[in-house]
Amino acid sequence: MPTPLRCPVCRQPLLRRDHGAACANRHSFDRARQGYLNLLPSHKKRSASPGDSIEMVQARTRFLDTDLYNAPATALIEAIHASVSDKNQPVIVDAGCGEGYYTTRIADALPKASVTGFDISKPAVVQCCRRKTDNADLQWLVASVADIPLPDDSTDVLVSVFSRIDWNEFARLLKPGGQVMVLGPGPDHLLELRQTIYEDVRSYPEDKLLETLPDGFELTSKTTVTDTLNVPDCQTIMDLLAMTPHFWHIKPAQRDKLEALQQLHCRLDMRLYVITYQPAASR
Ligand SMILES: C[S@@+](CC[C@H](N)C(=O)[O-])C[C@H]1O[C@@H](n2cnc3c(N)ncnc32)[C@H](O)[C@@H]1O
Ligand SMILES: [Zn+2]
Repeated sequence: MPTPLRCPVCRQPLLRRDHGAACANRHSFDRARQGYLNLLPSHKKRSASPGDSIEMVQARTRFLDTDLYNAPATALIEAIHASVSDKNQPVIVDAGCGEGYYTTRIADALPKASVTGFDISKPAVVQCCRRKTDNADLQWLVASVADIPLPDDSTDVLVSVFSRIDWNEFARLLKPGGQVMVLGPGPDHLLELRQTIYEDVRSYPEDKLLETLPDGFELTSKTTVTDTLNVPDCQTIMDLLAMTPHFWHIKPAQRDKLEALQQLHCRLDMRLYVITYQPAASR
């Protein structure tokens, strides 16, 4: 069974109907023809098209489908396996799932799991629906991490890959003992890409995330995930750029430098944090 939903308007349970879902207060949500539910009420949108644009989504899909990011996907799946090995039908939520590469890999690796992927970007979620999986309990939602349309105490594992974190919402969703898996950049992530663009390149600060962990959340493990990426052509290099914040800051001359490259050897340096939630009453 897919994970039950919560109405984004009145917070009552949402019941599935043929063409979508509705709550007892008659708030109803149609299923899009691609298969997702849009549970982001328009009055809660900060802009007409929040989140990643269609161009960024397409670049991300082209890049991730090369499987150059196989190492972090594999590390994430191993950590989830370890976390839910004693559960019959674990509930896994990918918050800010983008175009669904990691979510679908998780759903395929854990066929008995109920997996939900959500993102605030509609083009990203449309792309998610194009991904094939045999896991019948994978559902896709347009929703915000600041107001997740899933019930309290419902989730075993919350995944956040290079995405926003809302610790209050994560605390509300997680069962006691549930875990957050955060994948983010290590100090030297994409160093050679950054060296091509900028003259002065600094390492990213390490473990910043851990400075902001609220009460109830505790680090269980930290894994370094490294690899050497052989980015094979100009299109893939530009797609990789479009997945980073540098895409927004880069000057035309710096972009030209990158566009002149025919290939790039670049290090992947990520950190996978497994963080366990234990609410005060159960500690
Ligand atoms: C850097 S991308 C990562 C996507 C995906 N996890 C991956 O690694 O391929 C960040 C994603 O967060 C989404 N996003 C931004 N603000 C959000 C919010 N408030 N709630 C949910 N998703 C959000 C963007 O649309 C984008 O898809
Ligand atoms: Zn409602």
